[in-house]
Amino acid sequence: MGDDFGDDFIWGAATAAHQIEGNNVNSDWWVREHAPGTRIPEPSGDAADSYHRYAEDIRLLAEAGLTSYRFSLEWARIEPAEGHFSRAELDHYRRMIACCADHGVTPLITLHHFTSPRWFAEDGGWLDERSVARFARYVEAVLPLLDAASHVFTINEPNILAMMIGGEKGDEQLQAGSLPAPDPVATANLIAAHRRAVEIVRRVGVPVGWPVAPQQFFADPGAEEVLKAYAYPREIVFLEAARDDDFVAVQAYTRTRITVDGPVPAPETVERTLTGWEYYPPAIAEAARLAHDVTGLPVLVSENGIATADDARRIDYTRDALKALRAEMVAGLPLLGYLHWSLLDNYEWGSYTPTFGLISWDRETFERTPKPSLAWLGEVARGVRSLDE
Ligand code: FCB
Repeated sequence: MGDDFGDDFIWGAATAAHQIEGNNVNSDWWVREHAPGTRIPEPSGDAADSYHRYAEDIRLLAEAGLTSYRFSLEWARIEPAEGHFSRAELDHYRRMIACCADHGVTPLITLHHFTSPRWFAEDGGWLDERSVARFARYVEAVLPLLDAASHVFTINEPNILAMMIGGEKGDEQLQAGSLPAPDPVATANLIAAHRRAVEIVRRVGVPVGWPVAPQQFFADPGAEEVLKAYAYPREIVFLEAARDDDFVAVQAYTRTRITVDGPVPAPETVERTLTGWEYYPPAIAEAARLAHDVTGLPVLVSENGIATADDARRIDYTRDALKALRAEMVAGLPLLGYLHWSLLDNYEWGSYTPTFGLISWDRETFERTPKPSLAWLGEVARGVRSLDE
């Protein structure tokens, strides 16, 4: 089924709590969005109100023919004060997991997707070595929820998170092009926290890994050594840290050119998406190949998509991304599945303008409207539509 991707191939869509739930008031991001003088263009507010409307979102995903949903648990809700765990919030996520089962949808669960509780951030965050034990304690608290998941992701895009911390650029939109140097202390703590989380999650026997976001650096002639030095702390070290995991996950959207002087933005002549990134569908296949080459592990695409107001272009992008992935599979890449980013238009870390969703929603009423791309991807997943049509 699914156009030669195989019967066991995972087909789904992904979201992250802060970007869709709304009113994540106890998180570091909420604090940042409302800080005096913030450079963040707009706050997250109610987001898509998926905290209350998740059942409808899961139903729409299932009705389209997708069978997996990746979402994140919000640490800031579950542990609102250090060491205080909310049974009610744990129950909330338990209900979401049950709702997936009701719709024949398999949950894939992210434990940390960029946001942390404000107490954690205010008391050192990932720069404090206590972050490792603190994260492990939270993972222990959510462990009873995880046995229903097919896959668990510990920390989303640790490489991007380390760069955000390194550049103190957490309040700026991420841009392809020049990326801040990752903070080495944050890098070490994130890797240590990941290792602890992997050990804990393995107790419930669910495959566990983490999603790295390679940037598809490509070198000008003569810039190969510059590329190596640039890429190592920004992505390779995080892929190497995945070698003992059960799988490696990748998320990619675009590529970045490296000259002898370092990274440069794409030329003005190329097509760009609403995030300003170069339109480059093969990115995810290149990322998957890199992740496999570094780790030797099976690869799961945990995010891939495009910010566009033109849904036909979303279908073009996704079709070409899937074709490139299929070509890698034919060439021997063990690929477990494809989770599209994103199920819903969402809060893109500072702005609602870059729309990545397969579903849009009304800012006043929250009424959902599936886009043609949702039906299209569902048909590909069900094997009733070929990528070559
Ligand atoms: C990734 C993030 C995700 C979303 C997409 C566009 O870096 O994991 O939350 O912002 O990019």
